[in-house]
Amino acid sequence: MSGGSSPGSRYFCTASRGLERFLVEEVRLKLSARDVEQVSGKVFFTADADLKKLKNLKCAERLFLFVKKVPPIQIPRHKGKGVHVLQEYVIGESSKWLDVVSKWQSLWDLSKEQECTSDVTETGIKRPTQQESSETRKRPKLDLDIPQATVFDESPTGKHDLHSIIQGSCQNNTTIQRPDELLNPQGRGAASCMHFRVSCRCSGKIAKMFTSQELGKAIGIALVREMGWKAELRNPMLEVYVHLSDIHYVVGIPIVRLPLASRNYIKSAGLRSTVAWAMAYLADITAGSLVLDPMCGLGTILLEAAKEWPNAHYHGIDNTASQLQIASANVCFAKLTSNIDLTRASVTELPLLTESVNVVICDIPFGKKFKISQDTKTIMPYILKEMVRVLSTDGTLVLLLSQELSLDMQQWQKSKSHQSNKEKFAALQNTDTSTSEPSSNPAENVDVEDMSIAEKEQSEVKTKVLASLVPKGIFQVSLGVTEASIHRYKKIAIT
Ligand SMILES: C[S@@+](CC[C@H](N)C(=O)[O-])C[C@H]1O[C@@H](n2cnc3c(N)ncnc32)[C@H](O)[C@@H]1O
Repeated sequence: MSGGSSPGSRYFCTASRGLERFLVEEVRLKLSARDVEQVSGKVFFTADADLKKLKNLKCAERLFLFVKKVPPIQIPRHKGKGVHVLQEYVIGESSKWLDVVSKWQSLWDLSKEQECTSDVTETGIKRPTQQESSETRKRPKLDLDIPQATVFDESPTGKHDLHSIIQGSCQNNTTIQRPDELLNPQGRGAASCMHFRVSCRCSGKIAKMFTSQELGKAIGIALVREMGWKAELRNPMLEVYVHLSDIHYVVGIPIVRLPLASRNYIKSAGLRSTVAWAMAYLADITAGSLVLDPMCGLGTILLEAAKEWPNAHYHGIDNTASQLQIASANVCFAKLTSNIDLTRASVTELPLLTESVNVVICDIPFGKKFKISQDTKTIMPYILKEMVRVLSTDGTLVLLLSQELSLDMQQWQKSKSHQSNKEKFAALQNTDTSTSEPSSNPAENVDVEDMSIAEKEQSEVKTKVLASLVPKGIFQVSLGVTEASIHRYKKIAIT
């Protein structure tokens, strides 16, 4: 098959909280997606993209072919009736399923040619060689990474090898079954080839009435009845994802086995890859940019940035040898040694010339896993001062901060703008700023007299640093167990 496009298919991706807006921009930019809709934790869109382009989405956790999204319904109190109503509502028309599954198969058919020419697929699965018999080939298990995923496990059936069906034509010694044979729900012989399982997740009101297992099983039974498919717990050809919440009921079919967020080019993972990508996306990296991560750890931000914007140059600095060792192995594994340099140094004494880099991106330690020698809050003005020193005018600074540090930075900013307003007002009135009315915001009323010498020094550093930084947005993101904020700034020249 040629061309490589599946016209107008509808998809959705799951995304970490806070990253949906980035994913919306990404699908528009990379896939020219239309009818883009963002809800909490998901982005829906229509695109004509091929599997390779879809798999290149960097801000998504998982990618699905869209089956349906419907509003929640009133469920009868009687449990049996409730299950019946839900089965009908969630499954709906069998023609819809046939349509989606045939799209799913044509996506795989289209990518088949590319995969056959390479020994290792994009998902890192080693392709079988010509010598390996089809009997010895086994499809790697579908990864059920979905929280509270339940599996429909009604009948213990024989295993089915998806690769021998979907990619079978690549192997000279394999007979392929055609998608239309597989997807005929009435013609029992062929239809029964579709082996599936259901991953169901319930939240909100519905979770008080049913467990995810109960509903997963009920939906599975309905699919067996309606479509003539077979349940397969261990090695299904197809996974049916169902999420029932107070906001909507969503049904989809995962397109790829592994979450998109599990990068096949990262050997040892540090910061969540999707967040690292979003930080790089905000950094205005262009061809020829010099990008610095002065607390690079395992180098995740640099890896994400260099994969997406390979025409820039990247420099990672960290003061811990063991971190740099792993970062170096990561850079080699990702084949990015010509793009990324690593140096051991401290963020407060960067071995770089003033105004020598275009972008600084940094994941500031929260103090839990990675400590810095002093309290992060105390040392923050000095870290920032050094970052701002090496950053060129018009350069971009992108920081990932704990909620505490984020609030602290916002308070600095507020007290700075309050101070400059006071000065402007005083200039207009021709009065002394120290005698003007205190603000109702305590954060703006820092009494210089009460400060220790160290605090006064910190305050001076903060004022100087902030004078050259213009805030360009704060973006709340989830790191799973913790919340964090991405702060974006532009450096301006101070006259
Ligand atoms: C939050 S981790 C960075 C994680 C990184 N983004 C990743 O994906 O692996 C913070 C890093 O700062 C480093 N660090 C702590 N104090 C430092 C200092 N004074 N100068 C440079 N690096 C420092 C730690 O060694 C650690 O690797």
